[in-house]
Amino acid sequence: MSEAKRQAAEKAIEYVKDGSVIGVGTGSTVAYFIDALGRIGDRIKGAISSSEQSTRLLRERGIEVVDLNAAGPLALYVDGADECDPQRRLIKGGGAALTREKIIAEASTQFVCIIDASKQVDVLGRFPLPVEVIPMARSLVAREIIAMTAGQPVWRQVDDGKGLVTDNGNYILDVHGLAITDPVALERTLNQIPGVVSVGLFARRPADVVIVGGQPPQVI
Ligand code: A5P
Repeated sequence: MSEAKRQAAEKAIEYVKDGSVIGVGTGSTVAYFIDALGRIGDRIKGAISSSEQSTRLLRERGIEVVDLNAAGPLALYVDGADECDPQRRLIKGGGAALTREKIIAEASTQFVCIIDASKQVDVLGRFPLPVEVIPMARSLVAREIIAMTAGQPVWRQVDDGKGLVTDNGNYILDVHGLAITDPVALERTLNQIPGVVSVGLFARRPADVVIVGGQPPQVI
């Protein structure tokens, strides 16, 4: 599927306006977008990065990384997704960058999501829903999610058997077994649990445009 990811990423370059600061997401699809952005680096002012990983890639390609507080509202945010429904609502956070991704999506007038066809679903939830939590609230949040939903939260681990620590110093719970028929309501409900930093549902603020890689890419 990497060719499809590259095709979607290349198409997204058409949305970049000269002289602008671009919001940039995280993941393997975005890595292709950063490659393409590197080729037109002299046309843009810089980028707002959603993760340490993307910051590194952007700097390697000579693109200046700008602080969101200094940039103000953004015209464009480009990011991948783990799942996308027909209303362009998304599950994100497979790369653990959901909180910064959500902040940049909120700051942007246009959110262009780049995916391959394997990410398209009718109902969100086959991909476990990432929830970023303050470490001390991990068990509390897990219990509340079990009480409120049909889902099963699993603490995301790294290879050495420790909890994955996000760029913000927090943990991730991946909630399995959800069929998310009302993503806006679930996003709102989970956001209200004390200790939840952010929920990987992008439903209240969905993507504005979804590009599905292919020859030619499909724009939804
Ligand atoms: C990062 O936290 C995620 O939201 C990514 O956007 C998502 O996991 C898509 O990643 P790939 O482009 O690697 O499939």
